[in-house]
Amino acid sequence: MKNIIIFGAPGSGKGTYSDEIVKRYGMGHISTGDVLRAQIKAGTELGKTAKGYIDNGQLLPDSLMIDILADTYDSLPAGQGVIFDGFPRTIAQAEALKQMLAERKHDMGVMVELVVDEETLLARLLNRAIEQGRADDNEETIKKRFAVYHAQTEPLAEWFEKEGMRHTFTWKGSKEQMLGEIFAFLDTL
Ligand code: AP5
Ligand code: MG
Repeated sequence: MKNIIIFGAPGSGKGTYSDEIVKRYGMGHISTGDVLRAQIKAGTELGKTAKGYIDNGQLLPDSLMIDILADTYDSLPAGQGVIFDGFPRTIAQAEALKQMLAERKHDMGVMVELVVDEETLLARLLNRAIEQGRADDNEETIKKRFAVYHAQTEPLAEWFEKEGMRHTFTWKGSKEQMLGEIFAFLDTL
């Protein structure tokens, strides 16, 4: 499978659909949020730095994230394709990803954009707060994450459009329908 960049607001389903895509196509999966949460749990220096940003709903510095991404990518088996979940989140990260893959003679692949209305996103994240207790799933931090998404990440969709990589899927109320549309597209690759 080609590389896939799964893109969308907090709670849009990047992690959920990545798991389904991995099951169907057997590829690698890098969630930068999961990488950082594992570092927090392990109590590393990186984890301590990450916690300050995550608890405040802010992005970590690009230079740090780009190094983490490259190390994680190189630790996966080559040639099976990777889903990038939560990266890139800024234009600088997108440019760095493009360069990193070009240096390895790998293709950027496709971008899958998940568009979900904000009322649904908020309800999902508040529900996950009850089920999983993720530290950044409280209403105050969720609102900051939405604002950061709109200011710093959403403009990146245009960047992917210009690269000819953007494929948009819009939530219409059914997970099965959304997943069916995503699979129908990915099956053609
Ligand atoms: P990250 O972990 O990436 O969080 P996020 O972008 O806020 O997104 P979420 O993981 O909350 O949502 P998701 O889209 O994966 O949705 P999910 O499938 O879980 O990043 C966290 C933080 O780390 C950032 O704020 C930042 O500080 C830092 N960070 C990470 N990457 C960075 C980077 N590149 N640069 C700088 N900083 C970075 O779904 C949400 C919930 O909805 C689940 O509980 C799911 O079960 C439920 N759900 C219910 N119905 C559905 C449905 N129909 N479809 C999908 N999910 C559904
Ligand atoms: Mg996630």
